[in-house]
Amino acid sequence: MKANIVILGIVSVSVFSVILIILKLISIEEYTPNIRPNFVTPIAEKYMQEVEKANNLLKEATIRIQELEEKLSNFESRVPKTYPDVKFLNYVKRKRILITGGAGFVGSHLVDQLMLQGHEVIVVDNFFTGRKRNVEHWVGHENFELIHHDIVNPIFIEVDEIYHLASPASPPHYMHNPVKTIKTNTMGTINVLGLARRCNAKVLIASTSEVYGDPEIHPQPETYWGHVNPIGPRACYDEGKRVAETLTYAYAKQEKMSVRVARIFNTFGPRMHMNDGRVVSNFILQALKNEDITVYGTGTQTRSFQYVTDLVDGIISLMNANYTQPVNLGNPIEHTINEFATKIRNLVGGRSKIVHLEGAIDDPQRRKPDITRAKKFINWEPKYDIKMGLQKTIDYFRQELKQDKYTHRSKNLIEAYPG
Ligand SMILES: NC(=O)c1ccc[n+]([C@@H]2O[C@H](COP(=O)([O-])OP(=O)(O)OC[C@H]3O[C@@H](n4cnc5c(N)ncnc54)[C@H](O)[C@@H]3O)[C@@H](O)[C@H]2O)c1
Repeated sequence: MKANIVILGIVSVSVFSVILIILKLISIEEYTPNIRPNFVTPIAEKYMQEVEKANNLLKEATIRIQELEEKLSNFESRVPKTYPDVKFLNYVKRKRILITGGAGFVGSHLVDQLMLQGHEVIVVDNFFTGRKRNVEHWVGHENFELIHHDIVNPIFIEVDEIYHLASPASPPHYMHNPVKTIKTNTMGTINVLGLARRCNAKVLIASTSEVYGDPEIHPQPETYWGHVNPIGPRACYDEGKRVAETLTYAYAKQEKMSVRVARIFNTFGPRMHMNDGRVVSNFILQALKNEDITVYGTGTQTRSFQYVTDLVDGIISLMNANYTQPVNLGNPIEHTINEFATKIRNLVGGRSKIVHLEGAIDDPQRRKPDITRAKKFINWEPKYDIKMGLQKTIDYFRQELKQDKYTHRSKNLIEAYPG
């Protein structure tokens, strides 16, 4: 009996314990959410508070950075751009000068020089081959204005002098739309001459050595009438320029205007159109890319190349001189195309091979200016070392090829001009 009571006692205690354990377990499960925080709170809560604080700080900092960025770009748009130093000319000496085609290769260098001299310069360009980038270092300057306009349409502004350069200049560009090339050189020139007559402005027309065609005499003096195929692929340009000259002298005679005609020979330098298909740009690009340098024909045909600062100097000297007949502006030192190809390859230092392709139609065989007139009447002759000029042009092309982002753009360099 006693033993039974003991066993019963043991069983009861065991059952009670099991019930207690189950109850405890249930209560733990049920109250876990409350129990756990109580259990880990001191460390976890502090940690969570720190994280939250850091997150808030980060949010605040992001908002502040955005505000500062907005302010900075606001300031940047208000801070005046810095410009190259220009001379100050009083109203008696300062001229208002129009340059048509001023966003092109030659035009943009002419802009630089006339701006540096302290004049007010207005550029009119349709950006067919020119770029705003070529003159961007002047945009916003009080003496400078850029007008997007096609010179085939009349323009009404007030000016003292006009340099008329608007015209595509390289064979692929002027052959791209031959009719437009003729219109630019005829209707465009009439508009420019009409404007000059209305304003009583002096006007200089950028003509070309192409008016001599494939010349039969050598070197070419201004008195030579030329040898042009009037229906060949280059005629739109050659004849266009010849008509431009004829118009200029017709206006001068009939309207008693002061005119200048510059017959420009091959010119090169930075800001040349990279794909203009002309000898210098072609050879430099091919050499920089280690591609074959392609010479059309035998390569024994000659060209005389001048660096762009010499040309700009000559154009301004002609405008300022008291001489109204056409003047050749070019470098009389003659090179064969083969020589040029080798020189450029050596300066670039690549592995390009020089290869010969079939000659171009109507490609002049010899080109060399007689610059006696320029020496005598405008006291001008080219001075710039061709090798140095080529090196500068190569550097420019190399830099242009390297750029693949807007922010990588190099600053436009302004050439040092004599005087
Ligand atoms: N660079 C040379 O070796 C060379 C040789 C002989 C003559 N030229 C003459 O010099 C002038 C400038 O030549 P470049 O080498 O600077 O050429 P370019 O193509 O770089 O410049 C010509 C400029 O005229 C602009 N233009 C063309 N058609 C126009 C139009 N209808 N209205 C307004 N703008 C127009 C172009 O956009 C460009 O900015 C041209 O008249 C060219 O015939 C140049």
